[in-house]
Amino acid sequence: MKKIYVSPSILSADFYKLGEEISSIEFAGAEFMHFDVMDGHFVDNISFGIPVLKSISNTHHMVNDVHIMISEPLRYASRFVDAGADILTFHLEALNNEEEVLKIISIIHEKGAKAGISIKPNTKVEELDRYLYKVDLVLIMSVEPGFGGQKFMESALDKIAYLDKYKKEHSLSYLIEVDGGINDITAKKCIEVGVDVLVAGSYVFKAKNYKEAIDSLRG
Ligand code: DX5
Ligand code: ZN
Repeated sequence: MKKIYVSPSILSADFYKLGEEISSIEFAGAEFMHFDVMDGHFVDNISFGIPVLKSISNTHHMVNDVHIMISEPLRYASRFVDAGADILTFHLEALNNEEEVLKIISIIHEKGAKAGISIKPNTKVEELDRYLYKVDLVLIMSVEPGFGGQKFMESALDKIAYLDKYKKEHSLSYLIEVDGGINDITAKKCIEVGVDVLVAGSYVFKAKNYKEAIDSLRG
């Protein structure tokens, strides 16, 4: 059976004890740590950014899985990699044309990180086709980005299935990640259609036992 990775989103952590929360998810078996950057412009919320990432990225051994929901990803990409992003995932909707998308992917790669591309629920998955041979990860949003704790949108499942089929048909190796409304039930549906990485915020951090929550996502 293929490996399913879990990426708890620290957006739902208790920021008063952030260091402790990070150690707890690592101890509970998370392979990735999901870091949601929101600029109050691309999405209707403001979270945290480069200085916070810099403080925490070296304090654990998980993959720093950084998801930038910002209007100007090209302007900030290299600074996020310098701050410790191992995977930097930007939004297709935040770039103006193909040239910009290819440019940000090469900036991320030149800096030595992996490049991820993400789409919001209303963006067609086929719009990613021309970039799939270049990226290391594709992030399918299963809620409208901006807030944790929303309900999973089933439309993400067809997109995941499409990406899994495309990957096999073209012998590609990108990881397929899903983000938003993931719990034990929705995780199972995503695994069935080919997901590799499960982002989960509230389901993990609201749980009494992080290890049980993380294990239950893998099924
Ligand atoms: C939403 C963020 C998600 C969010 C997930 O904009 O990208 O990563 O934190 O939270 P849950 O798992 O609670 O839906
Ligand atoms: Zn996210």
